[in-house]
Amino acid sequence: MTEMACQTNLDLQQFIEEAKKVTKYGKVADYIPALAEANQHDLSAAIYYVDGTCVKAGEMETYFTLQSISKVLTLALALMDHGQEYVFERVGMEPTGDPFNSIAKLETVNPSKPLNPMINAGALAVTNMIKGKNKEEKFERIITFVRNLTNNHTISISEKVAQSEYDTAWLNRSLCYFLKEHGIIQGDVEELMELYTKQCAIQMHSLDLAKIGAVFALNGKHPETGMQLIPEKIARLCKTFMVTCGMYNASGEFAIKVGIPAKSGVSGGILAVVPNRYGIGIFGPSLDEKGNSISGIRLLELLSAKYSLSIF
Ligand code: DON
Repeated sequence: MTEMACQTNLDLQQFIEEAKKVTKYGKVADYIPALAEANQHDLSAAIYYVDGTCVKAGEMETYFTLQSISKVLTLALALMDHGQEYVFERVGMEPTGDPFNSIAKLETVNPSKPLNPMINAGALAVTNMIKGKNKEEKFERIITFVRNLTNNHTISISEKVAQSEYDTAWLNRSLCYFLKEHGIIQGDVEELMELYTKQCAIQMHSLDLAKIGAVFALNGKHPETGMQLIPEKIARLCKTFMVTCGMYNASGEFAIKVGIPAKSGVSGGILAVVPNRYGIGIFGPSLDEKGNSISGIRLLELLSAKYSLSIF
């Protein structure tokens, strides 16, 4: 199924119109200056079914960067590179009630390792594990993985967003130095920051993101190519983290109200998975106070109620 064959769906369009009503209550992220250029009232969504069909609605042409959604993908890659024992020696499995960029727990939790791979500290530790002889090769491995997941070999990064974050990421640098002090990460912090900001700046539109969701819906198997891109056990593990930590300190409420694995990014993207059925890709850059797309969450609430999506 090609992108051309993906039809605009009227039901989805109606849900989008309804969900768009809340964009005015949120705010576009501006701590990464380039993200502040997004249109607060945009909302697009695509659903990619495991049989390779799809539907879409909203401002589909708008590309957005993955930001924290990339954390699920690097986690899968690190687990494929090293196995669970190595990865979870360096990053934990517990949700946190703190914001995504908080440094507080690194000092108070013993042993001092990030609580989970979805918060910034944990994701930086995971990106530090990606195999490759230098930062170029490591990045090539990440983007090739994303291209395979989307089956779209034109996927690239927004150089502007990557540079904008690299130039301003003082808090993430602080997390890195803290992690280095505690032996969680090795190597040059600036190189890690370059790799991490590029990973976060990988851009696509909602349909590509929905396709990644469909791969997780099939426990790692690509709906178009039939290739097992992620071992089933690792795909399941990633989905579990999406349920417990994917929406940060809003994950509990999201599990109650929507009830499916999902991962958000401050660009306004949400990757959601309806196991064995479909992947959902959403872009709505107006964020709530916890850094999740406000209209994206509303849309998922509407879809979950209408189509009984909760896995619980
Ligand atoms: O590290 C950061 O702050 C961003 N590159 C990603 C954060 C993010 O997407 C949090 N998600 N809601």
